[in-house]
Amino acid sequence: YLGKLHAFRGEILSVSDDPLHAPDAVSHQADGLLVVEDGIVVARGDHADLAHCFAHVPVTPIHGLIVPGFIDAHVHYPQMDRIASHGEQLLDWLERHIFPAEKAFADRSHADALAQAFLAELLRHGTTSALVFATVHEGSVDALFEAALARNLRLASGKVLMDLGPEGLRDSLATARAETEALIARWHGRGRLSYAITPRFALTSSDEQLALAGELLATHGDVLLHTHLAENRHECAAVAARFPEAADYLDVYDRFGLVGERSVFAHGIHLSERMCARLAQSGAGIAVCPSSNLFLGSGFFHFGQADRHGVKLGLGTDIGAGTSFSMLYTQGQAYQAALAREERLDPFRALYLATTGSARLLHIADKVGALAVGQEADFVVLDQAATTLLARRCAGASLAERLFAMQILGDDRVVAQTWIMGECAWDKNSAKGANCG
Ligand code: GUN
Ligand code: ZN
Repeated sequence: YLGKLHAFRGEILSVSDDPLHAPDAVSHQADGLLVVEDGIVVARGDHADLAHCFAHVPVTPIHGLIVPGFIDAHVHYPQMDRIASHGEQLLDWLERHIFPAEKAFADRSHADALAQAFLAELLRHGTTSALVFATVHEGSVDALFEAALARNLRLASGKVLMDLGPEGLRDSLATARAETEALIARWHGRGRLSYAITPRFALTSSDEQLALAGELLATHGDVLLHTHLAENRHECAAVAARFPEAADYLDVYDRFGLVGERSVFAHGIHLSERMCARLAQSGAGIAVCPSSNLFLGSGFFHFGQADRHGVKLGLGTDIGAGTSFSMLYTQGQAYQAALAREERLDPFRALYLATTGSARLLHIADKVGALAVGQEADFVVLDQAATTLLARRCAGASLAERLFAMQILGDDRVVAQTWIMGECAWDKNSAKGANCG
């Protein structure tokens, strides 16, 4: 429908701000109209109010609940085939399952194949944007960006910096700098793509490489910084042992200029009050990854502590430690992680974390996340009758109950369609990802 107006009629739900502070941020039209021009939302509201203004515009009826496309704030595409690898917590899991798999990305054709499979999986699950770990290999980033550009996806990624990595999965100061600079020049700002400087975590980079990451971040004013923080107890102990002069794990990154409003830290399971205060003050965000944290036995994210300080939060799957690509299922996992600490995560707040919350972490909240006028029309159609059990649970239920049921019981089965800038990119019923609608 490029170049002309097109409208979608159906039930629409979005959350444009954190309901914790802004209960009015939930926007819902039981019978809504979403008007799109050249991939951009130009009007949205109740069908009864808008229909007469757009009487001449072709309308696609949508059977299901329209929500903004999900934004996965932390995911590793090279790990998708190692999902469900048995038996270890973080550091042993990396050594035994993950590093061997990542070595294969030295081969560009392997990277191309995995990038295609990964993006297909994202769209099938209703994820329209993501902040993605590649591997240490430059070609792993080219493969992902090339595939994402062809599908017109809003995506951020970067070459992993790890000069203390295992044999065969290690870069150097010189290659880290040269390859990062080349990738930024080649991809940052092209289509809907953006670059993230990506030191794996404190343990796999030398002090010199962490300093280089800080220098690259300072030089390139609008790229992201993407890494892991305080995920696992053994990891935290090893970081404390290597950096005795740092106040804590976050301070290690801070000393190298890596903590600022463009920084996205995955996990944050073991945060102190000081770390939360510093995160909030700096504007850095945490990508909460509950299915991963349960799978690797890392722990439960402490929402109450982070919220007391006003830490910016989004939601990530962390595939392949995460156990599902589904950001719906991940919202349900976040609810269960909160409840494990006797805290409540409201279903609308969970949806916020998976959309606008993650968008804010990625600095794309002006572009996507809330299906607001002026934003790009990336959206998902959820089918509350996708399974017999879900249909029974949703019959006669309130909006909050239906949303919660989809978060707890749902996954890719519930994603009927995925639309990218007003174009259908996945249709479960035609199951070929084209010519839908
Ligand atoms: N910390 C460092 N690397 C990784 C990784 O690949 N996955 C997770 N979950 N944590 C990490
Ligand atoms: Zn991760």
